[in-house]
Amino acid sequence: DPNKVTPRSLPPFRPVPAGHADALTLPQGYRYQTLAPWGEVFTADGREIGFNHDFIGYFPIDLLEGGNSSTDALLTINHEYVNALFVGGDTRERTGTQIEAEMRAMGVSVVRVRKEGREWRIVPDARNRRIDAMTEIELTGPARGSAAVKGATTVRGTIGNCSGGQTPWGTLLTCEENVDGYTKAWPGTGYEAMHQGWVTEIDPFDPAWMPKKRTAMGRFRHENAAVTVAKDGRMVVYMGDDMQDACIYKFVSRGKYDPANRAANRDLLADGDLYVANFGNGSWVSLDYARNKKLQEARAADGKALFANQADVLADARASALAVGGTPVDRPEDIEIHPRTGEVYASLTNNAKHGNYFGQIIKFRETGDDWTAQTFLWDVFAVGGPQSGFSSPDNLVFDPYGNLWMVTDNSDLGGNPIKAYHGNNAMFFFATEGPNAGKAHRFAIGPVDAEMTGPVWSPDGKTLFVSIQHPGEDSESLDKLTSSFGARAGSRIPRPTLVAIEGFPGWRA
Ligand code: FEO
Ligand code: CA
Ligand code: CA
Ligand code: CA
Repeated sequence: DPNKVTPRSLPPFRPVPAGHADALTLPQGYRYQTLAPWGEVFTADGREIGFNHDFIGYFPIDLLEGGNSSTDALLTINHEYVNALFVGGDTRERTGTQIEAEMRAMGVSVVRVRKEGREWRIVPDARNRRIDAMTEIELTGPARGSAAVKGATTVRGTIGNCSGGQTPWGTLLTCEENVDGYTKAWPGTGYEAMHQGWVTEIDPFDPAWMPKKRTAMGRFRHENAAVTVAKDGRMVVYMGDDMQDACIYKFVSRGKYDPANRAANRDLLADGDLYVANFGNGSWVSLDYARNKKLQEARAADGKALFANQADVLADARASALAVGGTPVDRPEDIEIHPRTGEVYASLTNNAKHGNYFGQIIKFRETGDDWTAQTFLWDVFAVGGPQSGFSSPDNLVFDPYGNLWMVTDNSDLGGNPIKAYHGNNAMFFFATEGPNAGKAHRFAIGPVDAEMTGPVWSPDGKTLFVSIQHPGEDSESLDKLTSSFGARAGSRIPRPTLVAIEGFPGWRA
Protein backbone atom coordinates (compact mmCIF):
# COMPACT_ATOMS: atom_id res chain seq x y z
CA ASP A 1 0.00 0.00 0.00
CA PRO A 2 1.81 3.14 -1.19
CA ASN A 3 0.03 5.26 1.42
CA LYS A 4 1.92 3.44 4.15
CA VAL A 5 5.27 4.43 2.62
CA THR A 6 6.75 7.71 3.81
CA PRO A 7 8.05 10.18 1.25
CA ARG A 8 11.75 10.33 0.59
CA SER A 9 13.16 13.75 -0.21
CA LEU A 10 16.64 12.70 -1.28
CA PRO A 11 17.59 10.24 -4.03
CA PRO A 12 18.92 6.78 -3.13
CA PHE A 13 22.03 7.41 -5.29
CA ARG A 14 24.82 9.92 -5.75
CA PRO A 15 23.83 12.03 -8.80
CA VAL A 16 26.04 11.91 -11.89
CA PRO A 17 27.15 15.03 -13.81
CA ALA A 18 26.07 15.60 -17.45
CA GLY A 19 28.01 13.51 -19.95
CA HIS A 20 28.51 12.78 -23.65
CA ALA A 21 29.90 9.21 -23.58
CA ASP A 22 28.58 6.47 -25.86
CA ALA A 23 27.53 4.39 -22.87
CA LEU A 24 24.78 3.97 -20.34
CA THR A 25 26.28 5.74 -17.33
CA LEU A 26 24.92 4.96 -13.85
CA PRO A 27 25.80 6.11 -10.33
CA GLN A 28 28.22 4.13 -8.21
CA GLY A 29 26.69 0.89 -6.93
CA TYR A 30 24.31 0.45 -9.88
CA ARG A 31 24.70 -1.88 -12.87
CA TYR A 32 22.68 -2.86 -15.92
CA GLN A 33 22.29 -5.78 -18.24
CA THR A 34 21.15 -5.83 -21.85
CA LEU A 35 17.97 -7.90 -21.88
CA ALA A 36 16.00 -7.60 -25.11
CA PRO A 37 17.96 -6.07 -28.01
CA TRP A 38 16.54 -5.52 -31.48
CA GLY A 39 16.91 -8.63 -33.66
CA GLU A 40 16.98 -11.20 -30.84
CA VAL A 41 14.86 -14.25 -31.77
CA PHE A 42 12.42 -14.95 -28.92
CA THR A 43 9.39 -16.83 -30.28
CA ALA A 44 9.08 -20.49 -31.29
CA ASP A 45 8.34 -19.40 -34.87
CA GLY A 46 11.49 -17.30 -35.14
CA ARG A 47 10.19 -13.77 -34.64
CA GLU A 48 12.62 -11.10 -33.48
CA ILE A 49 12.47 -8.27 -30.96
CA GLY A 50 11.50 -5.14 -32.90
CA PHE A 51 13.24 -1.77 -33.29
CA ASN A 52 13.27 1.48 -31.29
CA HIS A 53 11.84 0.28 -28.01
CA ASP A 54 9.61 2.68 -26.11
CA PHE A 55 6.98 1.92 -23.42
CA ILE A 56 7.57 -1.18 -21.31
CA GLY A 57 4.65 -2.93 -19.60
CA TYR A 58 5.45 -5.20 -16.63
CA PHE A 59 2.84 -7.95 -16.12
CA PRO A 60 3.71 -10.28 -13.21
CA ILE A 61 3.44 -13.83 -14.51
CA ASP A 62 1.05 -14.73 -11.67
CA LEU A 63 -1.07 -11.57 -12.00
CA LEU A 64 -4.27 -13.38 -13.01
CA GLU A 65 -3.97 -15.62 -9.93
CA GLY A 66 -3.64 -12.54 -7.69
CA GLY A 67 0.16 -12.67 -7.55
CA ASN A 68 2.74 -9.93 -7.98
CA SER A 69 6.00 -11.63 -8.97
CA SER A 70 9.09 -9.42 -9.13
CA THR A 71 11.25 -12.08 -10.77
CA ASP A 72 9.01 -13.54 -13.50
CA ALA A 73 6.85 -11.55 -15.90
CA LEU A 74 5.49 -10.93 -19.34
CA LEU A 75 7.03 -7.69 -20.53
CA THR A 76 5.47 -5.78 -23.38
CA ILE A 77 7.78 -3.58 -25.41
CA ASN A 78 6.51 -0.90 -27.79
CA HIS A 79 8.54 -0.52 -31.00
CA GLU A 80 7.84 3.01 -32.10
CA TYR A 81 9.47 3.40 -35.51
CA VAL A 82 12.43 2.19 -37.55
CA ASN A 83 15.61 3.71 -38.92
CA ALA A 84 15.91 2.50 -42.52
CA LEU A 85 19.70 2.69 -42.27
CA PHE A 86 19.61 -0.17 -39.78
CA VAL A 87 16.38 -2.03 -40.56
CA GLY A 88 16.07 -3.81 -43.89
CA GLY A 89 19.59 -2.96 -45.07
CA ASP A 90 21.19 0.40 -45.74
CA THR A 91 18.93 1.15 -48.66
CA ARG A 92 16.39 3.94 -48.67
CA GLU A 93 14.68 2.53 -51.72
CA ARG A 94 11.05 1.57 -51.24
CA THR A 95 11.37 -2.05 -52.33
CA GLY A 96 8.80 -4.60 -51.15
CA THR A 97 11.45 -6.35 -49.05
CA GLN A 98 12.48 -3.09 -47.37
CA ILE A 99 8.86 -2.16 -46.57
CA GLU A 100 8.12 -5.60 -45.17
CA ALA A 101 11.21 -5.47 -42.92
CA GLU A 102 10.02 -2.11 -41.59
CA MET A 103 6.44 -3.31 -41.00
CA ARG A 104 7.73 -6.37 -39.13
CA ALA A 105 10.08 -4.34 -36.89
CA MET A 106 7.31 -2.10 -35.48
CA GLY A 107 4.40 -2.73 -33.11
CA VAL A 108 4.74 -4.61 -29.83
CA SER A 109 6.76 -7.56 -28.47
CA VAL A 110 5.33 -9.72 -25.65
CA VAL A 111 8.32 -11.34 -23.92
CA ARG A 112 8.51 -13.68 -20.94
CA VAL A 113 11.47 -12.79 -18.73
CA ARG A 114 12.70 -14.35 -15.51
CA LYS A 115 15.37 -13.45 -12.99
CA GLU A 116 17.67 -16.37 -12.25
CA GLY A 117 20.25 -15.52 -9.60
CA ARG A 118 21.52 -12.05 -10.48
CA GLU A 119 20.56 -12.21 -14.15
CA TRP A 120 17.37 -11.60 -16.05
CA ARG A 121 16.86 -13.69 -19.16
CA ILE A 122 14.25 -14.21 -21.86
CA VAL A 123 12.56 -17.59 -21.45
CA PRO A 124 10.47 -19.60 -23.94
CA ASP A 125 6.70 -19.24 -23.49
CA ALA A 126 3.67 -19.86 -25.68
CA ARG A 127 2.61 -16.24 -25.01
CA ASN A 128 5.81 -14.78 -26.51
CA ARG A 129 4.67 -13.05 -29.69
CA ARG A 130 4.88 -10.04 -31.99
CA ILE A 131 2.05 -7.72 -32.86
CA ASP A 132 3.24 -5.65 -35.84
CA ALA A 133 2.13 -3.43 -38.70
CA MET A 134 0.41 -6.43 -40.35
CA THR A 135 -1.51 -7.92 -37.40
CA GLU A 136 -5.30 -7.96 -37.70
CA ILE A 137 -6.89 -5.62 -35.12
CA GLU A 138 -10.55 -5.00 -34.33
CA LEU A 139 -12.05 -1.51 -34.18
CA THR A 140 -14.38 -0.91 -31.23
CA GLY A 141 -16.49 2.05 -30.13
CA PRO A 142 -18.34 4.80 -31.98
CA ALA A 143 -16.05 4.97 -35.02
CA ARG A 144 -16.24 1.23 -35.74
CA GLY A 145 -17.76 0.73 -39.18
CA SER A 146 -18.24 4.50 -39.65
CA ALA A 147 -17.60 6.56 -42.77
CA ALA A 148 -14.68 8.20 -40.91
CA VAL A 149 -12.79 4.86 -41.04
CA LYS A 150 -14.21 3.92 -44.46
CA GLY A 151 -16.60 1.42 -42.95
CA ALA A 152 -13.90 -0.79 -41.43
CA THR A 153 -14.56 -3.08 -38.46
CA THR A 154 -11.13 -4.70 -38.50
CA VAL A 155 -7.92 -3.07 -39.69
CA ARG A 156 -4.34 -3.98 -40.34
CA GLY A 157 -1.57 -3.27 -37.87
CA THR A 158 -0.53 -0.94 -35.09
CA ILE A 159 2.29 1.57 -35.69
CA GLY A 160 3.95 4.55 -34.02
CA ASN A 161 3.73 2.73 -30.67
CA CYS A 162 5.11 5.33 -28.32
CA SER A 163 4.23 5.26 -24.65
CA GLY A 164 1.24 3.45 -23.16
CA GLY A 165 -0.35 2.19 -20.01
CA GLN A 166 -1.50 -0.91 -18.16
CA THR A 167 -5.03 -1.69 -17.01
CA PRO A 168 -5.80 -3.25 -13.62
CA TRP A 169 -7.13 -6.33 -15.44
CA GLY A 170 -3.73 -7.00 -16.96
CA THR A 171 -3.89 -5.63 -20.49
CA LEU A 172 -1.61 -3.23 -22.33
CA LEU A 173 -2.72 0.06 -23.84
CA THR A 174 -0.27 0.91 -26.64
CA CYS A 175 -0.47 4.42 -28.04
CA GLU A 176 -0.16 5.12 -31.77
CA GLU A 177 1.69 8.41 -32.01
CA ASN A 178 3.47 9.62 -35.15
CA VAL A 179 1.38 7.77 -37.70
CA ASP A 180 1.38 10.44 -40.39
CA GLY A 181 3.45 9.66 -43.45
CA TYR A 182 3.24 5.86 -43.58
CA THR A 183 0.70 5.89 -46.40
CA LYS A 184 3.44 7.49 -48.48
CA ALA A 185 6.40 5.61 -46.97
CA TRP A 186 4.78 2.25 -47.64
CA PRO A 187 3.34 2.59 -51.16
CA GLY A 188 1.38 -0.33 -52.52
CA THR A 189 0.48 -1.69 -49.07
CA GLY A 190 -3.00 -0.12 -49.06
CA TYR A 191 -2.25 1.49 -45.72
CA GLU A 192 -5.14 3.59 -44.47
CA ALA A 193 -4.20 6.62 -42.34
CA MET A 194 -7.59 6.72 -40.56
CA HIS A 195 -6.96 3.22 -39.18
CA GLN A 196 -3.94 4.47 -37.20
CA GLY A 197 -3.59 7.03 -34.43
CA TRP A 198 -5.73 5.24 -31.85
CA VAL A 199 -5.12 3.50 -28.53
CA THR A 200 -4.83 -0.27 -29.00
CA GLU A 201 -5.56 -2.73 -26.16
CA ILE A 202 -3.57 -5.99 -26.17
CA ASP A 203 -3.91 -8.91 -23.76
CA PRO A 204 -0.41 -10.31 -23.17
CA PHE A 205 -1.87 -13.32 -21.32
CA ASP A 206 -4.25 -14.30 -24.13
CA PRO A 207 -2.78 -14.43 -27.66
CA ALA A 208 -6.15 -15.66 -28.98
CA TRP A 209 -7.88 -12.39 -28.02
CA MET A 210 -7.71 -10.10 -31.05
CA PRO A 211 -6.18 -6.69 -30.17
CA LYS A 212 -8.76 -3.87 -30.05
CA LYS A 213 -8.47 -0.26 -31.18
CA ARG A 214 -10.43 1.93 -28.73
CA THR A 215 -11.99 4.61 -30.93
CA ALA A 216 -13.93 6.07 -27.98
CA MET A 217 -10.56 7.41 -26.76
CA GLY A 218 -10.11 9.52 -29.87
CA ARG A 219 -7.63 9.66 -32.72
CA PHE A 220 -4.62 11.98 -32.43
CA ARG A 221 -0.86 11.63 -31.85
CA HIS A 222 -1.36 9.43 -28.81
CA GLU A 223 1.61 9.66 -26.51
CA ASN A 224 0.40 7.76 -23.47
CA ALA A 225 -2.46 6.36 -21.41
CA ALA A 226 -2.37 7.01 -17.63
CA VAL A 227 -5.00 4.63 -16.23
CA THR A 228 -6.78 4.78 -12.88
CA VAL A 229 -10.02 3.64 -11.22
CA ALA A 230 -12.33 6.40 -9.91
CA LYS A 231 -14.07 6.14 -6.53
CA ASP A 232 -17.28 5.00 -8.24
CA GLY A 233 -15.48 2.27 -10.21
CA ARG A 234 -15.39 3.96 -13.60
CA MET A 235 -12.08 3.86 -15.48
CA VAL A 236 -10.30 7.17 -16.08
CA VAL A 237 -7.49 7.54 -18.61
CA TYR A 238 -5.38 10.70 -19.11
CA MET A 239 -3.79 11.12 -22.53
CA GLY A 240 -1.58 13.64 -24.34
CA ASP A 241 -1.52 14.59 -28.03
CA ASP A 242 2.21 15.04 -28.65
CA MET A 243 2.29 17.89 -31.10
CA GLN A 244 3.11 21.57 -30.81
CA ASP A 245 -0.02 23.41 -29.61
CA ALA A 246 -2.10 20.28 -29.01
CA CYS A 247 -4.19 19.23 -26.02
CA ILE A 248 -4.52 16.93 -22.99
CA TYR A 249 -7.53 14.59 -22.84
CA LYS A 250 -9.43 12.55 -20.29
CA PHE A 251 -11.50 9.46 -21.02
CA VAL A 252 -14.12 8.24 -18.52
CA SER A 253 -15.68 4.82 -19.10
CA ARG A 254 -19.46 4.32 -18.92
CA GLY A 255 -19.16 0.93 -17.23
CA LYS A 256 -17.50 0.11 -13.93
CA TYR A 257 -14.47 -1.98 -13.12
CA ASP A 258 -15.25 -5.34 -11.52
CA PRO A 259 -12.11 -6.99 -10.08
CA ALA A 260 -13.90 -10.38 -10.25
CA ASN A 261 -14.89 -10.21 -13.92
CA ARG A 262 -11.92 -9.96 -16.24
CA ALA A 263 -13.93 -10.82 -19.34
CA ALA A 264 -16.27 -7.86 -18.76
CA ASN A 265 -13.38 -5.50 -17.94
CA ARG A 266 -11.87 -6.21 -21.34
CA ASP A 267 -14.87 -4.41 -22.91
CA LEU A 268 -14.84 -1.40 -20.57
CA LEU A 269 -12.77 0.90 -22.79
CA ALA A 270 -15.05 0.43 -25.79
CA ASP A 271 -17.57 2.89 -24.39
CA GLY A 272 -17.11 6.18 -22.55
CA ASP A 273 -16.87 9.96 -22.60
CA LEU A 274 -13.94 11.94 -23.94
CA TYR A 275 -13.04 15.37 -22.55
CA VAL A 276 -10.35 17.94 -23.38
CA ALA A 277 -8.58 20.14 -20.81
CA ASN A 278 -9.22 23.88 -20.74
CA PHE A 279 -6.36 25.28 -18.64
CA GLY A 280 -7.84 28.81 -18.78
CA ASN A 281 -10.69 28.01 -16.39
CA GLY A 282 -9.55 24.58 -15.21
CA SER A 283 -12.37 22.57 -16.77
CA TRP A 284 -12.89 19.40 -18.77
CA VAL A 285 -14.90 20.11 -21.91
CA SER A 286 -17.06 17.34 -23.36
CA LEU A 287 -16.32 16.01 -26.84
CA ASP A 288 -19.78 14.45 -27.09
CA TYR A 289 -21.36 15.49 -30.41
CA ALA A 290 -24.92 15.16 -29.05
CA ARG A 291 -24.21 17.24 -25.91
CA ASN A 292 -21.82 19.92 -27.17
CA LYS A 293 -23.41 22.37 -29.62
CA LYS A 294 -20.00 23.76 -30.56
CA LEU A 295 -19.22 20.46 -32.25
CA GLN A 296 -22.50 20.55 -34.17
CA GLU A 297 -21.87 24.15 -35.22
CA ALA A 298 -18.16 23.81 -36.12
CA ARG A 299 -17.55 24.85 -39.73
CA ALA A 300 -14.57 24.58 -42.07
CA ALA A 301 -13.35 27.68 -43.95
CA ASP A 302 -15.66 26.80 -46.85
CA GLY A 303 -18.71 26.75 -44.54
CA LYS A 304 -19.12 22.97 -44.53
CA ALA A 305 -19.88 21.26 -41.22
CA LEU A 306 -16.67 19.82 -39.72
CA PHE A 307 -18.43 16.92 -38.00
CA ALA A 308 -21.64 15.02 -38.79
CA ASN A 309 -21.55 12.58 -35.88
CA GLN A 310 -19.51 11.23 -32.95
CA ALA A 311 -17.31 9.09 -35.21
CA ASP A 312 -16.18 12.24 -37.06
CA VAL A 313 -15.47 13.98 -33.75
CA LEU A 314 -13.32 11.10 -32.49
CA ALA A 315 -11.49 10.54 -35.77
CA ASP A 316 -10.23 14.14 -35.70
CA ALA A 317 -10.12 14.70 -31.97
CA ARG A 318 -7.56 17.49 -32.33
CA ALA A 319 -9.85 19.63 -34.49
CA SER A 320 -12.75 18.79 -32.17
CA ALA A 321 -10.74 19.79 -29.10
CA LEU A 322 -9.75 23.13 -30.55
CA ALA A 323 -13.34 23.78 -31.70
CA VAL A 324 -14.67 23.46 -28.13
CA GLY A 325 -11.97 25.53 -26.40
CA GLY A 326 -9.38 22.91 -25.44
CA THR A 327 -6.13 24.65 -24.50
CA PRO A 328 -3.20 24.07 -26.87
CA VAL A 329 -0.06 23.32 -24.84
CA ASP A 330 3.66 22.77 -25.52
CA ARG A 331 3.71 19.15 -26.72
CA PRO A 332 2.17 16.98 -24.01
CA GLU A 333 4.33 13.87 -23.60
CA ASP A 334 3.89 11.42 -20.74
CA ILE A 335 1.28 11.73 -17.97
CA GLU A 336 1.37 9.85 -14.64
CA ILE A 337 -0.74 9.84 -11.48
CA HIS A 338 0.96 10.45 -8.13
CA PRO A 339 0.48 7.28 -6.02
CA ARG A 340 -0.02 9.19 -2.74
CA THR A 341 -1.77 12.45 -3.64
CA GLY A 342 -3.70 11.44 -6.77
CA GLU A 343 -2.41 14.53 -8.57
CA VAL A 344 -1.85 14.15 -12.30
CA TYR A 345 1.63 15.07 -13.60
CA ALA A 346 2.25 15.88 -17.26
CA SER A 347 5.44 16.55 -19.22
CA LEU A 348 5.16 19.46 -21.64
CA THR A 349 8.33 18.65 -23.49
CA ASN A 350 9.07 21.83 -25.47
CA ASN A 351 7.72 24.00 -28.25
CA ALA A 352 10.32 25.52 -30.55
CA LYS A 353 7.55 27.57 -32.20
CA HIS A 354 7.24 29.56 -28.98
CA GLY A 355 10.94 29.50 -28.09
CA ASN A 356 10.22 27.04 -25.26
CA TYR A 357 13.27 24.78 -25.70
CA PHE A 358 13.42 23.42 -22.17
CA GLY A 359 9.85 22.41 -21.37
CA GLN A 360 8.26 21.92 -17.97
CA ILE A 361 6.38 19.42 -15.84
CA ILE A 362 2.95 20.55 -14.71
CA LYS A 363 0.54 18.93 -12.27
CA PHE A 364 -3.16 19.20 -11.67
CA ARG A 365 -5.55 18.17 -8.95
CA GLU A 366 -9.14 17.19 -9.74
CA THR A 367 -11.90 18.88 -7.70
CA GLY A 368 -12.81 16.78 -4.66
CA ASP A 369 -9.90 14.45 -5.50
CA ASP A 370 -12.33 12.74 -7.87
CA TRP A 371 -10.76 11.74 -11.19
CA THR A 372 -14.19 12.00 -12.90
CA ALA A 373 -14.54 15.68 -11.83
CA GLN A 374 -15.41 18.35 -14.40
CA THR A 375 -12.96 20.91 -12.95
CA PHE A 376 -9.38 21.01 -11.67
CA LEU A 377 -6.62 23.29 -10.36
CA TRP A 378 -3.17 23.21 -11.94
CA ASP A 379 0.34 24.36 -11.14
CA VAL A 380 3.89 24.11 -12.46
CA PHE A 381 6.00 21.39 -10.78
CA ALA A 382 9.43 21.87 -12.42
CA VAL A 383 10.79 24.03 -15.24
CA GLY A 384 13.58 22.88 -17.59
CA GLY A 385 16.61 25.03 -18.35
CA PRO A 386 20.21 25.70 -17.30
CA GLN A 387 19.07 26.51 -13.74
CA SER A 388 17.35 23.20 -13.14
CA GLY A 389 19.75 21.17 -15.33
CA PHE A 390 17.19 19.16 -17.31
CA SER A 391 15.45 19.85 -20.57
CA SER A 392 12.59 18.42 -22.64
CA PRO A 393 10.90 16.09 -20.12
CA ASP A 394 9.35 13.02 -21.70
CA ASN A 395 8.44 9.71 -19.98
CA LEU A 396 7.57 9.76 -16.28
CA VAL A 397 7.27 7.01 -13.72
CA PHE A 398 6.54 7.31 -9.98
CA ASP A 399 7.90 5.11 -7.25
CA PRO A 400 5.58 4.25 -4.32
CA TYR A 401 7.17 6.97 -2.16
CA GLY A 402 5.79 9.51 -4.62
CA ASN A 403 9.17 10.34 -6.15
CA LEU A 404 9.11 11.09 -9.83
CA TRP A 405 11.63 9.59 -12.27
CA MET A 406 11.80 11.33 -15.64
CA VAL A 407 13.69 10.80 -18.89
CA THR A 408 14.52 13.59 -21.32
CA ASP A 409 14.22 13.84 -25.09
CA ASN A 410 16.28 16.58 -26.69
CA SER A 411 16.37 14.67 -29.97
CA ASP A 412 14.62 17.02 -32.34
CA LEU A 413 16.01 20.37 -31.32
CA GLY A 414 19.19 20.46 -33.41
CA GLY A 415 21.46 23.42 -32.63
CA ASN A 416 19.52 24.68 -29.63
CA PRO A 417 21.25 25.97 -26.51
CA ILE A 418 20.55 22.79 -24.50
CA LYS A 419 23.33 20.39 -25.35
CA ALA A 420 26.10 22.49 -23.78
CA TYR A 421 24.76 22.03 -20.26
CA HIS A 422 22.56 18.96 -20.63
CA GLY A 423 24.81 16.48 -22.49
CA ASN A 424 23.20 13.27 -23.72
CA ASN A 425 19.60 12.51 -22.85
CA ALA A 426 19.36 11.48 -19.23
CA MET A 427 17.13 10.21 -16.44
CA PHE A 428 16.35 12.40 -13.43
CA PHE A 429 14.90 11.90 -9.95
CA PHE A 430 12.60 14.45 -8.27
CA ALA A 431 11.11 14.40 -4.81
CA THR A 432 7.55 15.74 -5.01
CA GLU A 433 7.14 16.61 -1.32
CA GLY A 434 9.38 18.24 1.30
CA PRO A 435 12.04 20.92 1.01
CA ASN A 436 13.70 19.23 -1.96
CA ALA A 437 10.54 18.99 -4.08
CA GLY A 438 11.02 19.73 -7.77
CA LYS A 439 14.85 19.65 -7.71
CA ALA A 440 16.35 17.49 -10.49
CA HIS A 441 19.00 14.87 -9.65
CA ARG A 442 20.60 13.09 -12.61
CA PHE A 443 20.45 9.30 -12.20
CA ALA A 444 21.53 7.97 -15.59
CA ILE A 445 22.94 9.17 -18.91
CA GLY A 446 22.11 7.46 -22.19
CA PRO A 447 24.50 6.72 -25.09
CA VAL A 448 25.01 9.02 -28.08
CA ASP A 449 21.93 10.04 -30.12
CA ALA A 450 19.70 7.92 -27.87
CA GLU A 451 16.71 8.51 -25.66
CA MET A 452 15.86 6.48 -22.60
CA THR A 453 12.17 5.59 -22.77
CA GLY A 454 9.45 3.51 -21.15
CA PRO A 455 10.81 3.11 -17.61
CA VAL A 456 8.94 0.64 -15.38
CA TRP A 457 9.71 -0.86 -11.95
CA SER A 458 9.53 -4.46 -10.87
CA PRO A 459 6.92 -4.57 -8.07
CA ASP A 460 9.62 -4.90 -5.37
CA GLY A 461 11.50 -1.83 -6.65
CA LYS A 462 14.74 -3.73 -7.12
CA THR A 463 14.83 -3.61 -10.93
CA LEU A 464 14.17 -0.66 -13.19
CA PHE A 465 13.54 -1.68 -16.79
CA VAL A 466 14.36 1.04 -19.34
CA SER A 467 14.45 1.15 -23.13
CA ILE A 468 17.51 2.57 -24.87
CA GLN A 469 15.84 3.98 -27.98
CA HIS A 470 17.54 5.03 -31.22
CA PRO A 471 21.26 4.93 -30.25
CA GLY A 472 23.27 6.35 -33.16
CA GLU A 473 20.14 7.80 -34.78
CA ASP A 474 22.01 10.66 -36.46
CA SER A 475 24.58 8.38 -38.13
CA GLU A 476 25.03 9.44 -41.76
CA SER A 477 25.93 5.96 -42.98
CA LEU A 478 27.11 2.59 -41.75
CA ASP A 479 30.68 3.93 -42.14
CA LYS A 480 29.95 6.99 -40.04
CA LEU A 481 28.19 5.64 -36.94
CA THR A 482 27.78 7.97 -33.98
CA SER A 483 27.11 5.06 -31.57
CA SER A 484 27.69 1.35 -31.35
CA PHE A 485 25.68 0.86 -28.17
CA GLY A 486 24.16 -2.64 -27.97
CA ALA A 487 26.06 -3.90 -31.05
CA ARG A 488 26.49 -7.65 -31.51
CA ALA A 489 29.98 -9.07 -31.04
CA GLY A 490 32.01 -8.35 -34.17
CA SER A 491 29.63 -5.57 -35.31
CA ARG A 492 29.50 -1.82 -34.70
CA ILE A 493 25.84 -1.36 -35.68
CA PRO A 494 24.01 0.03 -32.64
CA ARG A 495 20.90 -1.75 -31.42
CA PRO A 496 17.96 -0.30 -29.48
CA THR A 497 17.49 -2.49 -26.44
CA LEU A 498 15.67 -2.99 -23.19
CA VAL A 499 18.01 -2.94 -20.19
CA ALA A 500 17.44 -4.04 -16.59
CA ILE A 501 19.05 -1.69 -14.04
CA GLU A 502 19.91 -3.21 -10.65
CA GLY A 503 21.31 -1.85 -7.40
CA PHE A 504 18.18 -0.26 -5.94
CA PRO A 505 17.44 -0.99 -2.30
CA GLY A 506 13.82 -1.91 -3.12
CA TRP A 507 10.81 -0.46 -1.32
CA ARG A 508 10.77 -0.39 2.46
CA ALA A 509 7.51 -1.68 3.90
FE1 FEO B 1 7.10 9.14 -29.14
FE2 FEO B 1 5.98 11.85 -28.01
O1 FEO B 1 7.21 10.57 -28.00
CA1 CA C 1 7.64 10.14 -25.76
CA1 CA D 1 5.07 6.61 -17.93
CA1 CA E 1 9.79 12.92 -27.20
